[in-house]
Amino acid sequence: MNNMSIQRVAVVGSGAMGSQIAMVCALAGYPVVLQDVREESLVKGKEQLKKQMEKRVTKGKLTSNEVKQAFNLITFTTSLDELSEADLVIEAIIEKLDAKKELFQNVEKIVSEQTILATNSSTIVSSKIAEAVSRPENVCNIHFFNPALVMELVEVVKGPHTSNQTSERCMDFVRSINKAPVLLKKEISGFIANRILGKLMDEALFLYENGYATHDEIDLVCKKALNHPIGPFALMDLTGLDVNYYVRMQRFEESGDENEKPSKVVAEKVRKGELGKKTGKGFYEYDEKGRKVEVVL
Ligand SMILES: NC(=O)c1ccc[n+]([C@@H]2O[C@H](COP(=O)([O-])OP(=O)(O)OC[C@H]3O[C@@H](n4cnc5c(N)ncnc54)[C@H](O)[C@@H]3O)[C@@H](O)[C@H]2O)c1
Repeated sequence: MNNMSIQRVAVVGSGAMGSQIAMVCALAGYPVVLQDVREESLVKGKEQLKKQMEKRVTKGKLTSNEVKQAFNLITFTTSLDELSEADLVIEAIIEKLDAKKELFQNVEKIVSEQTILATNSSTIVSSKIAEAVSRPENVCNIHFFNPALVMELVEVVKGPHTSNQTSERCMDFVRSINKAPVLLKKEISGFIANRILGKLMDEALFLYENGYATHDEIDLVCKKALNHPIGPFALMDLTGLDVNYYVRMQRFEESGDENEKPSKVVAEKVRKGELGKKTGKGFYEYDEKGRKVEVVL
C-alpha cells in the first residue's frame, strides 16, 4: 500500500445515495465517516441500511457478522470536523451548486492536501465546484447509480482541472469497493448512462404525446423487444417525474434551447403533484405499499 492509497473515506449527505455509498465502502472494509447536517437524516439513513442489510442476511448474501463489522466501520455524525482524516470525501448532498461549493470550501480547510474531493452529483460537472477550491486538481465526479448497494457501475469523470493522479486513484478505489468503474476522459453534463437514458425517454414521450401508443404499450415494447428490465414510463415513476422535470429545466436554463424543456405531459403531471411511485400516481397508479395498481378499463 503506497502513501497515496485511499484508506479512510468520508461521505457527506446521508440521504438516498449517501447512506448506501457509505455502506458499500464499509462492506469493502473501509472506515467511513457519514456526515449530514440533519440528525434525522442520519437516523433515517441508518434505519434504512439496517432493513436492507437484514434482507441480505435473510437471503444468505451476507452473514450477520459481516453486517455487524460493516456497521462498526461507519461513524454517523453531524460534525464536519470528523472528516479530517479522510483520504477521499464523496459529497452526496442536495443538488444545488452553491451548497456544494460552500461544502467543498469548508471540507478543504479540514482535510489533507492529498485528499480527493469527489461529487456524486448526477448533473453538475465538477469543474463548476472546483472553481471554489484552492486544489482543483483533487476534484472530480464519482457518480454512483441508485440504489448504490445494488448497481455495479460507477462513472468517474475527469474535468480539465482534475489531475491524472486523482482520476487514477478514484478508478482504483472504485475497483476496490467491488464496483465497475468507467472513466470519462472529458466532462459532459449527464455523463454516459443518463445521456443515453434521456434520449430513450424523449423518444418514448414523443411517441406517447403524439398518440402512437399508450405508455404501457411503449414500456412493453422496451421490455419485450429491447430486453430492458423496466420500461421508460415505469422508470420515470420510480425515480420521480419531478427529477426528470428539474433536470430538463436546468438544461434549458443553461442552454436557452426550447427543445431542452420538460415535455408537456411531464410538466402537467408535476403541476398536479403526480410525481410517480412516491405520491401514489405518475403514469401508473400505486397502492400504499408502492405496488402497481392494475387499472381495469
Ligand atoms: N437519487 C438518485 O437517484 C441519485 C442518483 C445518482 C446521484 N445522485 C446525486 O446524489 C446527490 C444526493 O442525492 P440524494 O437523492 O441522495 O438526495 P437526498 O435528498 O436523499 O439526500 C441529501 C442529503 O443531504 C443532506 N444535506 C443537505 N445539505 C447538506 C450539507 N451542506 N452538508 C451535509 N449534508 C447536507 C440532507 O440533509 C439529506 O440528508 C445529488 O447530488 C444527486 O444528484 C442522486
